[in-house]
Amino acid sequence: MTDVFDTIDAEPLDREAERILRLNDRGGYTVPTEGLYPYQWNWDSAFAGLGFAAFDIDRAWTEIETLFSGQWGNGMVPHILFHRVDAGYFPGPDVWGTEDALGRGACKVPSSGISQPPVVASLAWRIYLADPTAGHDRLAALFPKLLAYHRWIMAARAESGAVAITHPWEAGRDNAPDWDEAMAGIDPVGVAPYTRRDTGHVDPRMRPTQADYDRYIWLVQFARERRWDEAAIAAESPFRVADPTMTFTALRSTRDLRLAAELLGAGTDEIDGWIARLEDGAAMLWNPETGAYDARNLRTGNFAGSVSNASFLSWWAGLEDRRPLETLRRVMTGARYVLPSHDLSAVSFDHLRYWRGPVWAIMNYMAASGMAEQGLTAEGARIRADTVRLIVENGFAEYFSPSDGTPAGGATFTWTAAVWLAWASPSRGEA
Ligand code: GLC
Repeated sequence: MTDVFDTIDAEPLDREAERILRLNDRGGYTVPTEGLYPYQWNWDSAFAGLGFAAFDIDRAWTEIETLFSGQWGNGMVPHILFHRVDAGYFPGPDVWGTEDALGRGACKVPSSGISQPPVVASLAWRIYLADPTAGHDRLAALFPKLLAYHRWIMAARAESGAVAITHPWEAGRDNAPDWDEAMAGIDPVGVAPYTRRDTGHVDPRMRPTQADYDRYIWLVQFARERRWDEAAIAAESPFRVADPTMTFTALRSTRDLRLAAELLGAGTDEIDGWIARLEDGAAMLWNPETGAYDARNLRTGNFAGSVSNASFLSWWAGLEDRRPLETLRRVMTGARYVLPSHDLSAVSFDHLRYWRGPVWAIMNYMAASGMAEQGLTAEGARIRADTVRLIVENGFAEYFSPSDGTPAGGATFTWTAAVWLAWASPSRGEA
């Protein structure tokens, strides 16, 4: 570990991180941050649960249980649950129009029509490990719901073996260069007039462009016109991209689900089948030209040519493959703070613009934990030390510039605080 761990006093930052989770608690669920994101988001909530597990185990489980109150009849767990409508966010439930969606079943919580990286089984497993006595029955009650979610992922998104997204928001990396080719293939005609709300909360230089937004809304309308029918969307949408974030988080979560199945005495054959398929799918994402795992446009077969922080989640996914190391080391040498969400040497790199450059604490947590588990100790330690420095120097921001550490996006951010409490804080000891 670098000396940053010897010189900082973790205690006040631990208290501040706890304060942020309480501040963003809306009663049973946590918003990512006040104003910019006033609802419950899928993977944000899973991380919030992990953060709560450091000081309030009951609240941690409640977070996950509230997320699953929005699970659709077909198993899908939506990317946003609109528990209480808030005019400060666009697009709201009226735009998504999922009330009569096929697959929705009896679910009563208004929601979006897409999902997000399925980290929840992995993080629920960690919440269980934080206090097995308190967690056993909660995990047992959640297990069939997790299983249904993964069954849906495999049926609705994993036709190539890798997990595909139907919308950039589904990857949780909204404007990543990974989707540029597929997004350029969309002509956003017929988008109903709308007003963005995000740029009223945050500097537009830190957000997606207008061209991106028109296509985001066009894709929502496209799916809505098909009543969110997965089969029709898969057959007809111009946008279907196999994504390393989805694939690697799904693979890791499936392995963690298997641990839960063993603990609970449930069968593992179906889960083993998923692991084998996802491993095959991950192999398809290896891009020999960039020397990294990459997104792949399923409509053209083309790689995106993007070296991102998602590229380095392969170790978190449990792949022992050492081929990405050379590229990882090059990226780490070039950035002042790692892991950048996009390669600093790429022309499309932009140090403040969301997923086209900035560092995200949640991605650092997963990437570094995977590396540490697989003996890449120095790389994991550097990522953790940089995460600590970013937070100590700049606060619990949504994301940070890899070039100079500038805090960007929303402040007092739930998942940044959660990752601090669960992993980065020096009070957690050696990870
Ligand atoms: C942005 C991020 C996404 C996150 C959401 C709420 O859309 O790209 O990953 O879940 O904000 O924090």
